[in-house]
Amino acid sequence: MFAKEVYSDRRNRLKKEIKSGIALFLANQEAAMNYAANTYHYRQDSHFSYFFGLPHPGFAGLIDFESGEEFLFGNDLEIDDIIWMGPQPSVAEQAAQVGIQKTMAYDKLIESLQKAGTTGRDIHFLPPYRGEMMIELGQLLGYKPSEVKANASLTLIKAVVKLKEIKDALEISEIEKAVDIAWLMHTTAMKMAKPGITEQQIAGTIEGIALSHGGSVSFPVILSMDGQILHNHSHHNILELGRMLVVDAGAELSSLYDSDITRTLPVGGKFNARQKEIYEIVLKANMDSIAATRPGAEYREMHFIAATRITEGLKAAGLMKGNVEDAVAAGAHTLFFPHGLGHMLGMDVHDMEGLGENNVGYDEHTTRASQFGTAYLRLGKKLRPGYVLTNEPGIYFIPALIDKFRAEGQFMDFINYDKAEKYKDFGGIRIEDDILVTETGQRVLGKPIPKSVADVEETACN
Ligand code: GLY
Ligand code: MN
Ligand code: MN
Repeated sequence: MFAKEVYSDRRNRLKKEIKSGIALFLANQEAAMNYAANTYHYRQDSHFSYFFGLPHPGFAGLIDFESGEEFLFGNDLEIDDIIWMGPQPSVAEQAAQVGIQKTMAYDKLIESLQKAGTTGRDIHFLPPYRGEMMIELGQLLGYKPSEVKANASLTLIKAVVKLKEIKDALEISEIEKAVDIAWLMHTTAMKMAKPGITEQQIAGTIEGIALSHGGSVSFPVILSMDGQILHNHSHHNILELGRMLVVDAGAELSSLYDSDITRTLPVGGKFNARQKEIYEIVLKANMDSIAATRPGAEYREMHFIAATRITEGLKAAGLMKGNVEDAVAAGAHTLFFPHGLGHMLGMDVHDMEGLGENNVGYDEHTTRASQFGTAYLRLGKKLRPGYVLTNEPGIYFIPALIDKFRAEGQFMDFINYDKAEKYKDFGGIRIEDDILVTETGQRVLGKPIPKSVADVEETACN
């Protein structure tokens, strides 16, 4: 946990944004894996952690926007708990660690909420994403679980996004630590990627690196020779010479700040000519769109810089044809690049995505497109200093998508389908970095992770 002033300051800033009612933040509960006492790795809710810091279940935080009071609800441990879990600080002591003076037993929470409800005060809460949380909020607030999400507070969502989207120096330093762990994860994967080894051995090793640094992975490791499957969590292949491995993996610190990095490497350490040609296109899309990233620009523009580089490169490679600008405007590049350039990164790998992608990635000036591929941009809006985001272009040869677009006669003026057919065994390439938007431009966070052809090959062969 950070110093208590960090949490007091965050709550005080939230109080400046909302003037009436109360806000309720629940800690995540334990989640049962196969029976109640056998639980998944405990993951605190990111918003509770941001404002109330404590890394344990069994708490609720409440902020009164009119009186300015703050409360922590929770129960002191009983002797049975102490036998199994060891002694723990009291609720009052834990509250003091995050700058809160007022504590109450957890079962008093419902009375406080009912009192606020009967006096007509707004009870602001964020949309839950776990079933247990929907049930708990429903019981506390008098909704059916299925009604809870629809009653979440847009006022609180907007205020939380406004605060959390700008990362301060402490948060940036945490994310950089997470990127530095990812450096070790990715360089280890590069060195291990030899023919005959299984994807599972590499995935298990790099997940172990994240865990051994005291945190976790920021999302289930994506590691596959079938890189054309964008979020492939299956690790059953045995590595073969002549193929590439997409590794999309990051670390989450105990403070819950994340990294999210992708590298694509040749099995055995050397790209062949066909792989190198496509790799250089993705790398140019990544580097040029990073270089253009600056405050005041919309991230959607950066997406189209990447899409244009991909289209130019694929035209030079004979896979696309026609006028590049017209091809991008028509969306022809989405056959090969069917996702957005990136997303916000913070305490969630897709930061705050549970609050609604449109609430985080768009604003009143920037609305989501409806075109296939371009509609999937998680972040389109104007950039501000302090944003941390990912830059992750890719080129994929997805046999089912090539077949579909060809059968439908889509983009016949822009796609050389006969050549695309020959790449159905290619897989995919993605390159992903974590970027801070600064006052004047941008900075790639963390220790540089090899990404030029020469640097990846050198790391892989040593
Ligand atoms: N690792 C998931 C993503 O890159 O968005
Ligand atoms: Mn990723
Ligand atoms: Mn990402």
